[in-house]
Amino acid sequence: MQCPSLLEAETVDWQQAPCSLASDELHVWSWDTNQFAATNECLSWLDAAEQQWHNQLATTALKQRYAGAHLGMRRVLASYLQVAPQQVAYHISQLGKPSLPGSELHFNLSHTSSQVLLAVSKSNVGIDCEQLREVTTRDSLASKHFTTEELAAYHQSPATEAVRYFFQTWTRKEAIVKLTGLGLTARVEQLNTQAGEQSVNTVAIPPTWNTSHSAVVLMDLTSPSHLAASLAVEQQPAQVRCYRMTDLG
Ligand SMILES: CC(C)(COP(=O)(O)OP(=O)(O)OC[C@H]1O[C@@H](n2cnc3c(N)ncnc32)[C@H](O)[C@@H]1OP(=O)(O)O)[C@@H](O)C(=O)NCCC(=O)NCCS
Repeated sequence: MQCPSLLEAETVDWQQAPCSLASDELHVWSWDTNQFAATNECLSWLDAAEQQWHNQLATTALKQRYAGAHLGMRRVLASYLQVAPQQVAYHISQLGKPSLPGSELHFNLSHTSSQVLLAVSKSNVGIDCEQLREVTTRDSLASKHFTTEELAAYHQSPATEAVRYFFQTWTRKEAIVKLTGLGLTARVEQLNTQAGEQSVNTVAIPPTWNTSHSAVVLMDLTSPSHLAASLAVEQQPAQVRCYRMTDLG
């Protein structure tokens, strides 16, 4: 299987979002929160916890990003669940993982800057994206969070590729952590995502992690040059479809 590609995503008006998902299929949605006009009517779709979080954000830009991510998420999930966006009722685990109780649908959300990714599947899933940027603490973060193999590959990568390698490895780890739902309790320095350089790899979950998963399938997403993104799934889907949502007004 080739890497799913955000660059070749099918552009879809949100009103025409596909509302069905085969059990062996996975959908990845992307959109830009700058395109989202968060009207007061739309903001009323947010539940009490989302409204509380939105209200305490310090700047208009942060509010715009959060609202754009969560309203877009509600629109997409509503189309699969065939309910109104304000009726999407998701539960958040003690460690922060959102899920849809009573539904066979699994989802996971990631946002970086104004870019949002949402994975929707019939089995457990984690997704992560990061905007490529210079981080002054990059080397020390790599030393702290990467395995010996990952760290060696990071230090061997050409200077022009080091930022991409760093963030690709970071998103691989985060996507797996997000699938497991372990959040900050996961010992990411024990998780080796360097098993192979194929587009799809099976990655062993460290036996010390407090999870029922022994291995997951990890995929890099072919992304625009400013972005790294990865997807983790319980079982390899027969097909991954990527959609780019437009016309979010
Ligand atoms: C929770 C965590 C996974 C969020 O990741 P992030 O890159 O900061 O943020 P993202 O935009 O990708 O994801 C945020 C979304 O993930 C979801 N999420 C939050 N906690 C989650 C969890 N425990 N499991 C799965 N999904 C979670 C939410 O939908 C959240 O959206 P919201 O903040 O708008 O409500 C991350 O903060 C974390 O705990 N990481 C632990 C692993 C670690 O140490 N990583 C370091 C280097 S690899």
